[in-house]
Amino acid sequence: MSFIQLRDLTKTFSHTLKPAVDSVHLTIEKGEIIALLGPSGCGKTTTLRMIAGFEQPTSGSIKIGGEVVYENQFTVPPEKRGIGMVFQDYALFPHLTIAKNVMFGLSKWGTRAKRERAKEVLELVGLADYAARYPHELSGGQQQRVALARALAPKPHVVLMDEPFSNLDAGLREKMRFEVTTILRKANATAIIVTHDQKDAFAVADRVVVMNEGVIQQIATPREMYRCPKNCFVAQFVGKTNLLSGRLCEDMRHVDTHIGRVSLPAQSGVMLENVKVSIRPEGCKLAEEGRFTGKVERVTYSGEYQEVVVNLGAGTTEPMILYAPIDQDVQPGIVVSFDITPELVALVE
Ligand SMILES: Nc1ncnc2c1ncn2[C@@H]1O[C@H](COP(=O)(O)OP(=O)(O)OP(=O)(O)O)[C@@H](O)[C@H]1O
Ligand SMILES: [Mg+2]
Repeated sequence: MSFIQLRDLTKTFSHTLKPAVDSVHLTIEKGEIIALLGPSGCGKTTTLRMIAGFEQPTSGSIKIGGEVVYENQFTVPPEKRGIGMVFQDYALFPHLTIAKNVMFGLSKWGTRAKRERAKEVLELVGLADYAARYPHELSGGQQQRVALARALAPKPHVVLMDEPFSNLDAGLREKMRFEVTTILRKANATAIIVTHDQKDAFAVADRVVVMNEGVIQQIATPREMYRCPKNCFVAQFVGKTNLLSGRLCEDMRHVDTHIGRVSLPAQSGVMLENVKVSIRPEGCKLAEEGRFTGKVERVTYSGEYQEVVVNLGAGTTEPMILYAPIDQDVQPGIVVSFDITPELVALVE
């Protein structure tokens, strides 16, 4: 059953400007975790604030748990929407201790239950020893975890998180991604996590929604999104890619590009002649007698792989990016050959 339904949700801040959020259509199942991914200013926070009830939509409707919470000026106030929200700037109360911040949303609970719940969620985010401190006595990352604890404390059905991992270091970030999803799953909560980090999105989400300039570009599982990006924007925003123009062959299984013929993973349903293909760097594998040959321009060591930039010479505008294993000896100036795995090639709009 769909639990959150956004229909044609639009927000225009000033009538002369184009909408910050433009006809967003999205259906989220109960217990599903969605990542809303997009560049700065694309409308992520605005979308979240409309769902939470802090921002009035210009048009469209919002349903939560089968109930209309916004439509045609009819609006249910934020506190009646059963939502826990983690704000981008944490929004902790500076005059309240960490424990009291966490207990804030538990006004209807008994004193003892309140205290126990606060202890429980603070333990969950690893801040049990900080209960008596004030927000200004905590680091940014610690404040962020308090905000998370506060949102989760009342056991909401819907949890909305705006950049919940942005101020955490790499190690803590990975731990929190895992813990947040575990906590959400345990509570069977439906969640939307806003991020501009693809790794965050892929690690936490059942489905990823990519937005640009207020418009949803694609909704897909992380795997689908990476392997079959719908358009050039998604292909470039979600990971790195090589975008090539070409002509679709008659068999509709190959594209002729300036570097040669590239195979598609499946027969295309597209009838267009002039097309674009996205080729993931992981799909280009160095091989002794590979079909494509070029000169290495640059090698960057990332720890997990080496990013190799290869110039394919004549008629080629952009060099190709490929990832080589870290134990492979690749030096700038040498000539390499590689093959392209069709599974990591996609036709894009
Ligand atoms: N109160 C406001 N009044 C006018 N314009 C606004 C207001 N809030 C947001 N905007 C504009 O709406 C657009 C979307 O903003 P939003 O905060 O939703 O972006 P975002 O995707 O959350 O970006 P970021 O990743 O930087 O947080 C931006 O162009 C922003 O300037
Ligand atoms: Mg934002």
